Amino acid sequence: MNTLTTPPVAPLLQRLYADAAQSSQRLAQLVGHLSREERVRLMSDPRGDYRAFYARAKDIHMPISPSTGELLYMLARGNGARHIVEFGTSFGLSTIYLAAALRDNGGGQVIGTELEPAKAAHARANLAAVGLAELVEIRQGDALETLARDLPATIDVVLLDGHKPLYAPVLALLAARLHAGSYLIADNADASPEYLARVRAPDSGYLSVPFAGEVELTMKL
Ligand SMILES: C[S@@+](CC[C@H](N)C(=O)[O-])C[C@H]1O[C@@H](n2cnc3c(N)ncnc32)[C@H](O)[C@@H]1O
Repeated sequence: MNTLTTPPVAPLLQRLYADAAQSSQRLAQLVGHLSREERVRLMSDPRGDYRAFYARAKDIHMPISPSTGELLYMLARGNGARHIVEFGTSFGLSTIYLAAALRDNGGGQVIGTELEPAKAAHARANLAAVGLAELVEIRQGDALETLARDLPATIDVVLLDGHKPLYAPVLALLAARLHAGSYLIADNADASPEYLARVRAPDSGYLSVPFAGEVELTMKL
């Protein structure tokens, strides 16, 4: 028995992934008229107007894949995580995986961050619906501001899943709190070359590999 694969979490995840499949059609409408190059530029330009883009995408879930969710759960269980930080909460699917791991580890806190107020409200409601709200604080606002204060002394797991060009600046806010054995999981990190250069550098203090074609998986040495 574990929190992830049993009710009420398992059926809620199933429903939220069905909702996400619907909303992904609206994402296609939002960016469908753009060429591939324009889409890559939109998602990877550090000077791009990401707040405007994510405001237009406020109804669209864009979750991590279920396999990435299970990977998050495994890593957080495996290193006995108590303190987790998530950049990019959206409707809270990834947050549910992380909070389920904390519940099964015996407690702790996920600090999530989300630009869009409506999405932060959806995420809070989803977590409350499955009894995980007490394990999560969702900070509404830009992660560059919300993660610049009031963090735990140590952080065991970090999920990076917000605007890709901000992965490196967000890591800079958190790095001093990571310890040997902390994990960073960065979704679609190919759009963040600065981040990849940082964690893959030979003298970086991290071991980092692209994993399953979806995430960059990094461990603090
Ligand atoms: C790919 S979605 C996250 C999906 C979520 N991790 C999940 O698996 O359900 C990216 C989210 O990051 C949010 N976001 C983007 N840039 C942000 C920033 N600078 N600060 C906080 N949230 C941000 C967007 O509004 C969007 O909801």
